[in-house]
Amino acid sequence: MKKRSITKLINEAAKKSKVGKYNKEDTSHKRKIDWPVDCNIGPGLEGAIACETKIGYINGSRGQMIYRGYDIFDLAANSTYEEVSYLLLYGNMPTIKQLEIYKNKMIKYRTIPNTLRNLLGFPIEDMHPMAALRLGTNLMRHRLTWRDSDSAKPDFTEAIASDEDSIPMETQPYGEKHAKYEFKKQKTGRPADANKITDDAISRDTCIRLTSGLATLAAAIARIREDKLPIDPDPELSHAANFIYMMTGKKPNKEEERVMDVCLILHADHGMNASTFASLVVASTLSDIYLSIGAGIAALSGPLHGGANEAVIKTLETIGPVENVDAWFAKTRSKKTKIPGFGHRVYKAYDPRALILAPLAKQLTADTHEEGSVFDTANRLEELVVSTLGKEKGIFPNVDFYSGLVYRGLGIPDAMFTPIFAVSRVAGWTARIDEYLQNNRIFRPRAAYTGDFGNKYVPIKKR
Ligand SMILES: CC(C)(COP(=O)(O)OP(=O)(O)OC[C@H]1O[C@@H](n2cnc3c(N)ncnc32)[C@H](O)[C@@H]1OP(=O)(O)O)[C@@H](O)C(=O)NCCC(=O)NCCS
Repeated sequence: MKKRSITKLINEAAKKSKVGKYNKEDTSHKRKIDWPVDCNIGPGLEGAIACETKIGYINGSRGQMIYRGYDIFDLAANSTYEEVSYLLLYGNMPTIKQLEIYKNKMIKYRTIPNTLRNLLGFPIEDMHPMAALRLGTNLMRHRLTWRDSDSAKPDFTEAIASDEDSIPMETQPYGEKHAKYEFKKQKTGRPADANKITDDAISRDTCIRLTSGLATLAAAIARIREDKLPIDPDPELSHAANFIYMMTGKKPNKEEERVMDVCLILHADHGMNASTFASLVVASTLSDIYLSIGAGIAALSGPLHGGANEAVIKTLETIGPVENVDAWFAKTRSKKTKIPGFGHRVYKAYDPRALILAPLAKQLTADTHEEGSVFDTANRLEELVVSTLGKEKGIFPNVDFYSGLVYRGLGIPDAMFTPIFAVSRVAGWTARIDEYLQNNRIFRPRAAYTGDFGNKYVPIKKR
């Protein structure tokens, strides 16, 4: 198959989407929100408005997805993960100078030797990579904080990473018989107002550290699972290229790098989804950001959320060749089983990310017989679901339907699909935590009690 430029494929996908022109003049949504607000709330907090945000927006009926006012098709076609993660965190596109500073910080924070050394002490090869990633993220927060001491007072600036903390140094550079270690204290540049909940210099750097470091963690986990040692990042490579390189040991070609970059852009943020909400809930208690991101990773790991991309591949392999799809679909429909990779709480139209990923998956898998045949099966399944459930219930492919095939095309093992989602989404989680903590209020919804009243305690022997 003749290779086409990734940007061209994305621009064609944009034409297929229903996204119309945005009206920049329309500022009606920018009004000050007068809390408390009225909204219709369904189970699972469907429809509930939890907070205000300027970070991202989704319109489920039009298939629109926006980061800070920029349409996702525009960003996927033209931007990079470095720019997009900066945009989410700081609210504007960086200048050349700002991007350079940001990239340099990402290079610095991509190296996390202490965290990796600690991680190697755990049975990573026996854990699901999402469990390992959550563990590793928590290990990035290494220094004891106020939570670890009964007498200490909260100090929110303490949430710093092990790799920036005091590092045990051998006193003799060439080693001595009984090595002595001393702790060198590094200056953390703590601001005068240390009790302020979020300080730009500290918390935003922590956000960048997590955004950059999670890729190194995930890549190391992929390698440890294959009995290989982690690979150091290459400061000359982009975030996307580094991620592939640290995972596979091979420097990607331009197309592979670009595809990974697009995937990272597409997954970086997505409204008040379950994992974003989970990380915000933890952050709202003023727990530190490493634990909050750990909560986001835990929520993302489930098959109804980020875990769906792995389930999609398993389903496609169970179906087998394209000739089997119609019969499989008829049987599944009669049992009313949910098909992984379809449906969305918000989108009742095509998920724009699926529109972008489908042609990328096709291009990447075209040359291999095995993956190409899985793509054909996926394509036929999409046709059947869209022509039936799409019309009846607004069920369309979501982001997870084609992402696994794209990752397969990049030679990435299936178990790493959901961690890749986290490696990208950490930008959205951290940006939203940073935003939320500016006006923090601890989350505390209610449950409608439908149980008994007035029961009397009966001793166990008489029950
Ligand atoms: C994403 C998801 C959890 C959204 O759930 P939700 O908003 O609560 O939607 P519901 O589960 O209430 O589904 C509404 C209807 O659509 C049907 N439906 C939803 N997703 C479906 C799917 N993937 N396949 C077949 N039918 C589906 C439901 O059976 C239900 O039908 P009913 O009205 O006859 O009962 C759900 O679509 C799903 O489980 N999808 C598969 C997992 C997946 O791909 N997750 C990744 C999301 S990015």
